[in-house]
Amino acid sequence: MTARLHTAEFTPTDEAFIEIRNLHHEYEGVTALDSVSLDVRPGEFVTLLGPSGSGKSSLLHILAGLIEPTSGTITIDKRDITRLPPQKREIGLVFQNYALFPHLTARENIRFPHDVRKTADCDATERVAEVLELVELTALADRRPDQLSGGQQQRVAVGRAISSVPKVLLLDEPLGALDRRLRQQLGREIRRVQRETNITTLYVTHDQEEAFTMSDRVVVMNHGEMRQIGSPEEVYTAPRDSFVANFVGEVNQWPAGMTSGTGDTATVDVAGNAGFRARCGQDVHGGDAHLVVIVRPERVWVWHQGDPAPRSDVQLVGSGAIVESTFLGNSRSVVVESERLGRITALLYDGEEPRDPGARVSFGWEARHALVIPE
Ligand SMILES: Nc1ncnc2c1ncn2[C@@H]1O[C@H](COP(=O)(O)OP(=O)(O)OP(=O)(O)O)[C@@H](O)[C@H]1O
Ligand SMILES: [Mg+2]
Repeated sequence: MTARLHTAEFTPTDEAFIEIRNLHHEYEGVTALDSVSLDVRPGEFVTLLGPSGSGKSSLLHILAGLIEPTSGTITIDKRDITRLPPQKREIGLVFQNYALFPHLTARENIRFPHDVRKTADCDATERVAEVLELVELTALADRRPDQLSGGQQQRVAVGRAISSVPKVLLLDEPLGALDRRLRQQLGREIRRVQRETNITTLYVTHDQEEAFTMSDRVVVMNHGEMRQIGSPEEVYTAPRDSFVANFVGEVNQWPAGMTSGTGDTATVDVAGNAGFRARCGQDVHGGDAHLVVIVRPERVWVWHQGDPAPRSDVQLVGSGAIVESTFLGNSRSVVVESERLGRITALLYDGEEPRDPGARVSFGWEARHALVIPE
């Protein structure tokens, strides 16, 4: 088995609105972006998801024209904008620190792009009223930023960014400074505004939940590379490698040795124990290399040791004792210490399973929920 580890395969889209090609960027010897290519469709909401330092902001800043890439090209609506100054790109920008003008009211902040462009007075007034409605700030339009909450300020920032009808909207962790509830609420509002205006949008976050709930597609980045591009569901259920699997959720993971098979019907050794059925990721080929098998906690079944497996398609993988049991509200996280596979985590939902610390249990999973991928 060999594992080919490389950047997510790039397939151009017929109807791309933004075309990013082989973008490379270095800051004095630091590679921030390494041969990045991406197509974004008209009206699509795409999120760049990745750890700190993975190059998300660099990519957004290059798109906005705030920094010039070392090499590569960007086309928006068939026009090469790679060397165009920021103000000519028709891009709306929202950053984490709201950067509103403190001495201007919400209405004046939203009106600002029109004043810069010298839009006809009545057109601007009409558009600003429309945007205030859209971001639900009509009643607060005459307040200054210091008279608004963090979430309201961020809505002014979104309103200002879409006010002059940009071709593309770029948002760099716009919700980072807000608490979880407000993040969820404002995230939904941003998505609603984006759907109503149909502005092609690139969004940056390192929060997996935010990325999943808002996006049509997610780009998982690491070390300046795009590791995987796909729908939230694809990225979660079929991660290409161990980095993506771990970044987009919790996993149980063990070294895997392949004994036979490909695709949906492989037989693997899990941590030296032979003969488990599993599914193979697309980057796993014949040969011999570093592979892992991953199983998400919500796919692990746990039952009283000695009882039969709860379903015929659940394969018995091991046994052990529950060492941790944590109530999470809508579920319970249970950690089993097993002789053969070490610690495994299961997420339990319906209350039938053994869950008390000390209980002797068996555990296992369905073959289709175990995935073999490069480490
Ligand atoms: N002005 C700069 N000068 C030198 N190196 C920089 C500069 N800006 C960013 N970098 C480096 O480039 C890499 C990518 O940084 P970038 O800001 O794009 O990451 P990010 O994914 O946005 O991270 P975060 O989630 O922390 O915002 C990092 O290694 C960073 O240290
Ligand atoms: Mg950043």
